[in-house]
Amino acid sequence: MAGFHLETDRLILRDWQAGDVDDLHRVCSDPQVMATLGPVMTRTGTAALIADLQARALDFGHTFWAIERKSDGRVIGFTGLVRGAIIQIAGQLEIGWRLAADCWGQGYAREAAEAALAWAHEHRSGEPVIAITARSNTRSRALMQRIGMSYQPEHDFEHPALTQGDPLRPHVLYSIKPGAWD
Ligand SMILES: CC(C)(COP(=O)(O)OP(=O)(O)OC[C@H]1O[C@@H](n2cnc3c(N)ncnc32)[C@H](O)[C@@H]1OP(=O)(O)O)[C@@H](O)C(=O)NCCC(=O)NCCS
Repeated sequence: MAGFHLETDRLILRDWQAGDVDDLHRVCSDPQVMATLGPVMTRTGTAALIADLQARALDFGHTFWAIERKSDGRVIGFTGLVRGAIIQIAGQLEIGWRLAADCWGQGYAREAAEAALAWAHEHRSGEPVIAITARSNTRSRALMQRIGMSYQPEHDFEHPALTQGDPLRPHVLYSIKPGAWD
């Protein structure tokens, strides 16, 4: 079976490869990137994350794909679609992203996320797409808005994997309905 490959002007969204661990680990071990997500990750944790994302691609035909920058071939992070795993969004089509800090502010996340949304529209047509993030994650929330998603305040929730008092525990949910990104 041919691997996943989706091109935008500056980026390639693709399946994960064994050699991607170093690039992704630079992202996941950076305190600036992880400040809105949780503890920085070990290299073993990053390798396990890639394995999990590969397994999801096999199970569902989509995942958080690697983002490769065309200009230098570097994997600068990921974006894509998974099936929500926590109870509040179980089974829903969830878009997400994580990018190396030196690549923020250049429109890469938006470019990749819009391509992922277009893919959902074409291949999972009729399904709404949701996104969740810590309430305080202003950069991620701004991106959700930029790609046309709407905040759903009635779906605010406390993330079940985080302990009470953790500042990242309060979460927000955004969604976009089929057709809204036409
Ligand atoms: C969330 C995250 C992906 C957002 O990345 P980002 O770079 O801010 O988002 P975009 O790609 O949309 O870039 C937007 C910025 O690029 C600027 N930009 C520059 N060139 C651009 C171009 N060619 N096209 C579009 N925007 C461009 C925009 O003006 C905007 O600037 P601003 O941030 O000063 O307003 C990133 O901050 C991140 O990885 N955070 C850590 C992980 C995380 O929190 N993940 C989400 C968990 S739910």
